[in-house]
Amino acid sequence: MKNLIYYFSGTGNSFVIARQISEHLQNCSLLSIAKELKNSEKIKISKDIERIGIVFPVYAWGMPLILHRFIDAIEFDGNPYIFAVMNYGGFGAGTLLQLTKKLKNKGRQLSAGFGIKMPGNYLPLYGAKPIETQNKLFEQSKKQIDEIVKIINSKSVHKIEKNFFIVNFLFTDIIYNAGIKKISQAAKEFWTNEKCVNCQLCIKICPVNNIEIKDGKIIWRDRCEQCMACIQWCPSEAIELGKKTIGRKRYRHPNLKAADFLM
Ligand SMILES: Cc1cc2nc3c(=O)[nH]c(=O)nc-3n(C[C@H](O)[C@H](O)[C@H](O)COP(=O)(O)O)c2cc1C
Repeated sequence: MKNLIYYFSGTGNSFVIARQISEHLQNCSLLSIAKELKNSEKIKISKDIERIGIVFPVYAWGMPLILHRFIDAIEFDGNPYIFAVMNYGGFGAGTLLQLTKKLKNKGRQLSAGFGIKMPGNYLPLYGAKPIETQNKLFEQSKKQIDEIVKIINSKSVHKIEKNFFIVNFLFTDIIYNAGIKKISQAAKEFWTNEKCVNCQLCIKICPVNNIEIKDGKIIWRDRCEQCMACIQWCPSEAIELGKKTIGRKRYRHPNLKAADFLM
């Protein structure tokens, strides 16, 4: 029997969490959701899959749009144990309830759902936290992962992390639903400054092929997930989103290299 962990990640937090969990599971493959969706319209889960993990960042107190497309694309053959790990800079509100509902519509159960606080990466609102704060969060996350691994190794049914009803309702049902579709449109506000050396890493790192060159200029199209990979990984800090990101300290997980992310 095999285990699969699917992850989506812009700045590496989800990738590192997924990798740490996979190291504790036997016969486990780590798969990028973005790559899987690029390669095929349908994600077939065969009968010999024992566990499926889904690891992802919280966006606007809900699921990234790509995660909706991923769940829609899954075709289950068997009935694997499914767990999810969301991670966030603040809190996740009703994000895992959204995922629970989405899986239920496919006749599947989310058996365990966890939330891990990691350094926030939403550059339009804030810059990278100091290294000591980041390290504290990484230490805490490792301890949490040790507990998570015990639960998923034994395939236990465990509570799904959520906030109080009113918080879930306000942030996930109201704010998320009102704002999530605007995420891809906001990509029009990305621009490159004079520091751009045309290395094109942004084009190679974008998980949804949303960046290209037109008339010698880097441009963003309308498929953006706002994962922040382009702006946070740019080695020249030559990308900005509107005016608010100017001068803000960039964040990406310190244990990773851009090469881990190339599409
Ligand atoms: C578009 C966007 C929206 C976000 N929304 C939230 C949010 O609603 N709540 C929260 O706590 N963190 C939010 N974050 C922070 C991320 O969830 C967090 O930094 C996560 O660990 C990033 O994971 P990654 O490094 O795998 O991309 C947001 C980040 C982005 C890019």
